[in-house]
Amino acid sequence: MFKQSCQFQSNLITELEISNLNAFELINRVLSMDNTLFLIDENVYQIYFAGLQIDKPCYILKAEEQHKSLYQSQEIYNFLLTNNCSRNHYIVVFGGGISTDIGAWIASTFKRGTKLLLIPTTLLAMIDAALGGKTALNHNGIKNLIGSFYPADKIIICPSFLQSLPADEYYNGLVECLKTLLIIQDFDKANKLLSEKIINEDDIYLIANTKLSICANDLYDKGARRLLNLGHSFAHIIESLSDNAIPHGAAVAWGMLFAYEYSLKKKLLDIEKTNQLKDLLNKLIKASPSLYQHSIILFSNIMLDKAKTQIHHLILNDKKNNGSLKLILFDTQQIIVYQEDNIEEVEIFFINQLKSRYQLEK
Ligand SMILES: NC(=O)c1ccc[n+]([C@@H]2O[C@H](COP(=O)([O-])OP(=O)(O)OC[C@H]3O[C@@H](n4cnc5c(N)ncnc54)[C@H](O)[C@@H]3O)[C@@H](O)[C@H]2O)c1
Repeated sequence: MFKQSCQFQSNLITELEISNLNAFELINRVLSMDNTLFLIDENVYQIYFAGLQIDKPCYILKAEEQHKSLYQSQEIYNFLLTNNCSRNHYIVVFGGGISTDIGAWIASTFKRGTKLLLIPTTLLAMIDAALGGKTALNHNGIKNLIGSFYPADKIIICPSFLQSLPADEYYNGLVECLKTLLIIQDFDKANKLLSEKIINEDDIYLIANTKLSICANDLYDKGARRLLNLGHSFAHIIESLSDNAIPHGAAVAWGMLFAYEYSLKKKLLDIEKTNQLKDLLNKLIKASPSLYQHSIILFSNIMLDKAKTQIHHLILNDKKNNGSLKLILFDTQQIIVYQEDNIEEVEIFFINQLKSRYQLEK
């Protein structure tokens, strides 16, 4: 009998560029590249491409969760086939996280992998979705059920695209920016960002680069990458119970507040950190353009009744939980992964949070 192990090469490199061109200049630059095929978010296409003469193959992506699907993927494979896409072609994706997730999936699977250039156009995609190599499709109503790890060859962040972004979409990104700043404990930047509510190129670079570095050390999501889930365990429950009437950004903002409350309950925080976090998280919640509407839903009797019957099932069904719950919590020194074996305690805590009809600090 012969036995041998074999080390596969892993020389994956992602190049990150922050461009200070305006969106139209960047589009012209990218359109002049050879061997490219374009996948473009339908709204981005309407705003930025509609008046242009484009002599490259373009597929207009439907940018809604129900279209982050195998069905749309099949249409895109046919488009690539018709246009003779080879492994040496760049698939260039312009759009938010839905587009970068589906575009990256296509690049990772078509002919077992083409080149990939991502140009994120929402704040969330610039600092989160386009970075770190996770591709995803939804299937059978389950979010991100299908996917792969396939880091882009190149990501170009062009903040000029943010000028056309609706306020609620901007807020979704702002929440994830704050999450990353809390992970690296940069409270000054977090405060500045929440006061100004405008993000500059340097901050985008810092936050994007932080996510990229965390993922580069844990591409396959086995360790450090877990920290990026700060606020997300509670957020997934909030999104599910509200049938997504509370969108992801708002759910993560409330999720981080609940994580902070749970950290207090577990006596993980000293008084100074308690005050710092309480202040920041309250400001974050209040920055939401739809705060009133979401608070009414979150603290409604309907949510409470649903939580009482569904929370156990929701916690156990979360794909990352195997019997115990790994919560990302605040500690005085840092953000930590906290293994909670008493799931019932989390259930009671969550229901009590809903009952509290949280009073935002003035
Ligand atoms: N792969 C990952 O690591 C990762 C991480 C976080 C989120 N995600 C995924 O990202 C998705 C959410 O991404 P998102 O928040 O960017 O949403 P999105 O892609 O749905 O975009 C939001 C909306 O903004 C529009 N839009 C995009 N750019 C615009 C611009 N510059 N001006 C005006 N409108 C614009 C889109 O057409 C869409 O209607 C989810 O599917 C989520 O699962 C993936």
